Amino acid sequence: MKVYVPADAAARALGSDAVAEAIVQEADRRGIALELVRNGTRGMIWLEPLVEVETDDGRTAFGPVAPGDVAGLFDADFADHPLALGAVEDIPFFARQTRLTFARCGLTDPLSLADYEAHGGLTGLRRALDMPAEGIVAEVTESGLRGRGGAGFPTGIKWHTVRKAEGPQKYIVCNADEGDSGTFADRMLMEGDPFCLIEGMVIAGLATGADTGFVYLRSEYPDAIAVMTRAIEIARGAGLLGPDILGSGRAFDMEVRVGAGAYVCGEETSLLNSLEGKRGVVRAKPPLPAISGAFGCPTVVNNVLSLATVPVILEKGAAHFRDFGLGRSRGTIPIQIAGNVKHGGLFETAFGMPLGDLVEDIGGGTRSGRPVKAVQVGGPLGAYFAPHQFDTPFGYEEFDGQGGLIGHAGLVVFDDTADMGAMARFAMEFCAVESCGKCTPCRIGAVRGVETVDRIRQGDAGAVALLEDLCETMTDGSLCALGGFTPYPVMSALRLYPEDFGLTREAAE
Ligand SMILES: Cc1cc2nc3c(=O)[nH]c(=O)nc-3n(C[C@H](O)[C@H](O)[C@H](O)COP(=O)(O)O)c2cc1C
Ligand code: SF4
Repeated sequence: MKVYVPADAAARALGSDAVAEAIVQEADRRGIALELVRNGTRGMIWLEPLVEVETDDGRTAFGPVAPGDVAGLFDADFADHPLALGAVEDIPFFARQTRLTFARCGLTDPLSLADYEAHGGLTGLRRALDMPAEGIVAEVTESGLRGRGGAGFPTGIKWHTVRKAEGPQKYIVCNADEGDSGTFADRMLMEGDPFCLIEGMVIAGLATGADTGFVYLRSEYPDAIAVMTRAIEIARGAGLLGPDILGSGRAFDMEVRVGAGAYVCGEETSLLNSLEGKRGVVRAKPPLPAISGAFGCPTVVNNVLSLATVPVILEKGAAHFRDFGLGRSRGTIPIQIAGNVKHGGLFETAFGMPLGDLVEDIGGGTRSGRPVKAVQVGGPLGAYFAPHQFDTPFGYEEFDGQGGLIGHAGLVVFDDTADMGAMARFAMEFCAVESCGKCTPCRIGAVRGVETVDRIRQGDAGAVALLEDLCETMTDGSLCALGGFTPYPVMSALRLYPEDFGLTREAAE
């Protein structure tokens, strides 16, 4: 009997370890030979712990399972049971997805290289090993892949710059700091399919001439740190990393470096300082990291998802990836649905789905059952969207046109009890706490911002003009997007929900 119980941190937080233990004990008690696989999550967090059992007709799922349900599941022979969900692929939340980056996540044993290869892993790398470096860069460029960390910069163009840059040494740095509120896709990928990230980084090395990689991983992700570290050891042992990648004579090796827990260390130059053992403050650009990055050498800094999407692009070809999407937003995007929502989880789909469909239809509306009031898209620096904007298609330019951003594609849903004045205050407070202190508009501006929001909320409508002025200064004068984008949540909250600031609509405009 083969059973899958996720060891993903979200599933573990919901009790999957105790469920796995109960299954082992129950099988033992009944004298049933059991093969237990601790897979990654399928991404439907409200169904975790989601147990899957191998049958003649494929895998059938049960969830959410508690340890007390286990004996009953055995009694029912893992067939007819109130927790039965059928095949995962038929659950509407899953069936409506197009999984390219997350194709294997939850399906395989994350630390089995054999399982990885059996499900298409290493096909992209093998192809890349037969291509010239500029051919790999061209393939990534043609795919239309844009950075998934937030800025949406074309990945192929960044790689081209590093490939052309002169330097005794080049580096691939994976940004796994994942600090945005409501986001968890990087963690889910690293815990559920770590070889995919390793493969993507090796391909990036071949494309740019880098032979060393770092995964800068936040300390708040102990499970991901453990899985990635182990996966790197396994990959090295199997010759996927090291001086002779898959017998090609080409070299690439990598290691995990753990961050110390600052939001701004997700910003690429601050990250590089932290990686080098320095204080995590933002560096002025130029020079770009692509020219002078880690230890002063040409460096690719890419988000986990950007790098983990490269293997499938090389495997299936640029055109396959490019065929999905909308406008200049090509391919699929792993959207993370969180906050006050019924069906929270990871939903990978082609760009273009309207925001309202994601919230109301896929997410099932609020968990509280109350009307949706607002959705913050793109982390703590992202704008709030109100229901009248729900027809906005999920795409970089489309969100920009609405005064917002996609960021790392996290959605945080709020119901009608949310106080958006308090949320605007929180945005300024967050910026004040997390500011690296390098530039004045952010370091001082965020503190003044908290005070100014307080003044408005205490009835001083005249302070609205001051807040607008301050936000303009932060937008135009900040060195990085922490100070520069904080006005997005603040001003969108003010414009959309003036009553939560004690203002009339006219006073807020
Ligand atoms: C304050 C701040 C925090 C950021 N945090 C992250 C992060 O946690 N993960 C990430 O990939 N990018 C983050 N970024 C964006 C990075 O600076 C950079 O654009 C990204 O790592 C580039 O990779 P990509 O092109 O693959 O997106 C952050 C940017 C800012 C300004
Ligand atoms: S905007 Fe804030 S976080 Fe960014 S460099 Fe300036 S002080 Fe540092």
